[in-house]
Amino acid sequence: MFTKRHIISTRDFSKEEIDYVLSRAEELEIYARAEEPGDGKGRGRKSDLLKGKILANLFYEPSTRTRFSFETAMKRLGGEVINLSSTEASSVAKGENLADTIRTVSGYCDVIVLRHPHEGASRMAASFSPVPIINAGDGAGQHPTQTLLDLYTIKREGLLDGLRIALIGDLKYGRTVHSLAYALSLYKATLFFVSPEALRMPDEIKSDLKEAGAEVLESTDIKEIIKEANVLYVTRIQKERFPDPAEYRKVAGTYRITTDLIEENEDVIIMHPLPKVDEIDVEVDGTKNARYFKQTFYGVPVRMAILSILLGKEEMG
Ligand code: NCD
Repeated sequence: MFTKRHIISTRDFSKEEIDYVLSRAEELEIYARAEEPGDGKGRGRKSDLLKGKILANLFYEPSTRTRFSFETAMKRLGGEVINLSSTEASSVAKGENLADTIRTVSGYCDVIVLRHPHEGASRMAASFSPVPIINAGDGAGQHPTQTLLDLYTIKREGLLDGLRIALIGDLKYGRTVHSLAYALSLYKATLFFVSPEALRMPDEIKSDLKEAGAEVLESTDIKEIIKEANVLYVTRIQKERFPDPAEYRKVAGTYRITTDLIEENEDVIIMHPLPKVDEIDVEVDGTKNARYFKQTFYGVPVRMAILSILLGKEEMG
């Protein structure tokens, strides 16, 4: 469907394309699970769909889930992975610019997953790359594959139609919420933006969303909206993006999801792209509401779907 294309922003996707990725992820989920011999349901089936293909992970910022789930997705489909996991150990430390690194690495692989601290880095990298670039986070910009796994999680909960979701936390610097909000506007979701005053969703994004027909409501207090939402999407304050540490200290610890709060809406689903720091009480982890660990697992089938589409392998596993 979009073979050989770069994946830079959720704004580049139509609803039909997103729906296609989600249904493809459902087909491939069986290959995402660890092998469980003796399970008559055929869990953990093996696949060679991406045999002979090589993925390069280029991470200029820390990552656990994104890098590992891309690697797992590739390997479980029979492909291989090369990694730049630390800029200190590569020629980046010698002063090589991103364009030269991309020109070089694109000759060694079939697809590049790039995470970089500068907004726009992936789009720039794409202009130098003959192989697809997947944006795995560009500063405070976008993180489109995270959005696809977030949508997959919501779909698996049966909540995608008529969704009422609260995006909570650092809406200014958080790339996951920027990407997600744009994609949700295609689904005509009702969006509640809940953040400290200093971390509100940028005006430009809000006006784009309204133009796209999304219903947007803003608040600084989770209690005000918790009864209205069926999903709370909680995010970490992006400490590393604050130009002034004093500004960070002013907002640190200003919101927290607790079991007491959840009692206000027993059925609410709690998601988080992770890592979480102190914005969700650890007691919440064990509740029936928490979905964030399931959400991290869904990174594997969704990234399998993306890779198989980009690499032109759209037949079954
Ligand atoms: C997020 C990111 O890197 O934007 N992590 C992730 O990929 N799951 C969220 C964050 O760092 O807060």
